[in-house]
Parts: sequence; structure tokens; C-alpha cells
Amino acid sequence: AESFFGEKLLDGTSLLLTAGPTQEAIDPVRYISNHSSGKMGFALAAAAVELGATVTLVSGPVHLKTPQGVTRINVESAEQMQQAVMAEVETHQIFIGCAAVADYRLAKIADSKIKKSQEQMTIELVRNPDILAGVASHSARPFTVGFAAETNNVAQYAMDKLQRKNLDMIAANDVSVASQGFNADHNALSVFWQGGHQELATAPKTEIAKQLLTLIAEKYNQQ
Ligand code: CTP
Ligand code: CA
Repeated sequence: AESFFGEKLLDGTSLLLTAGPTQEAIDPVRYISNHSSGKMGFALAAAAVELGATVTLVSGPVHLKTPQGVTRINVESAEQMQQAVMAEVETHQIFIGCAAVADYRLAKIADSKIKKSQEQMTIELVRNPDILAGVASHSARPFTVGFAAETNNVAQYAMDKLQRKNLDMIAANDVSVASQGFNADHNALSVFWQGGHQELATAPKTEIAKQLLTLIAEKYNQQ
């Protein structure tokens, strides 16, 4: 990652990324969330620092140490994550949406703990804003990279998201494979960009992060 003269691929570049799950409150004691561990996003943040970038990490609730040199902003809900990202987007040149953002939140969060009464209950959900698509359509649009967690038709769904969200790059992982993706220490990624594709074979997330960041840096520096 370092040239003969000691320059690094992302020297002088600021990078913003999201990681982890979001939590959508039901009442003061309950929430809806997912199994994202944040490991991939935190590994990417660490790899970006190693490549010389200035890194801001917007993280949902995770049990991970902040990598050295990373500025971390903690959030819980998707709406909070979007606010934090939009407040930072103009000052960053690369954005990576690695968070597993909840697609829906409660239509109304109860003010006090919901007591059990009926045998069945229904909660109404509404769509969350798409943070990644919002970044990609911003006037000060950074080089925008998304993730796609899929269980089937991985390449097709990933390429759909690349086009639909107007991204520069998307990294897809098959979360139906237990040894990779959510909460695992290893991952394998299929990376797509306009006019190109590369497979990153199964490796520790720290290693995959370095490979993906190197690919992002190359494409970013080419534009
Ligand atoms: N994403 C986001 N905001 C959301 C939902 C997703 O920023 N409200 C981002 C994720 O961080 C990821 C990418 O969009 O980079 C794709 O997430 P994914 O869940 O795979 O796709 P969705 O667009 O939500 O579509 P679906 O879940 O229906 O496959
Ligand atoms: Ca989703």
C-alpha cells in the first residue's frame, strides 16, 4: 500500500463510513434490530487509516473497540444514522455504507413499556430513509460505495442496487453461507462497478477489508 517514496494510496483523503446494525425502538425497553456485528465496517475503518485516510465512522450499537486514529460517532436508529451521515458528507471524499440499516421502524414508538394483554398483537412499521441512496444523490456527492447482503441471486441483486442507487461500487456478500457475512470473522465479496467486476475470495475480514479498500482507492484515484 506504500510506494517507494512512502506515499500511501489514500493520503490526504477523508473517508466516511457506516457500520453495525441500527436499533429501532418499540418502547423504552425493546427494539427491532439484526445480527450485524460491525466487524466488516470496523475492519474497513482500520484499513483506511493504514492507507493514509482521515476516517469518520458512524456506528450503530456494537461491541467493538474503535480502531486507532478513527473518529467515531455512535447512533442507534436509522434516522439518527442518516442525520449523522448527512452532517458529515460534504467534508468527506469517499463514503462506504457498510451498516445493516433496518429497512423499517415503528410507525409510533410507545412512551411507556407495552404491557401484555391480548394473545396477539400487531405493530405497524414504516420504511426508513435509504442513507446510501441519499448520499449518492447529494450535490456534494462523494465516491459512493455500498454493500449488498443477499441470500440468493447475489450478482443480479447487487448490480440492480449499483444502478438503482447510482453507486460507484458495490460489494456483495452471500449471507446464506454461515461462515461469512453477519457476525462471522471471515468474508468473501463480489465487487461490482460500472464496467467491471472482481471476486475477493474467502479471507479474514481484516484481510478482505484491505483488499476492498485498495480496490476503492484505485478506482477513486482513477476518476
Ligand atoms: N442502506 C442504507 N439505508 C437503508 C437501507 C440500506 O444506507 N435504509 C445501505 C446499506 O448500508 C448497504 C446497501 O444500502 O450499503 C444495501 O443494503 P441492503 O439491505 O442489501 O439493500 P436494500 O436496498 O435495503 O434492499 P433489500 O434489503 O430489499 O435487499
Ligand atoms: Ca435492507
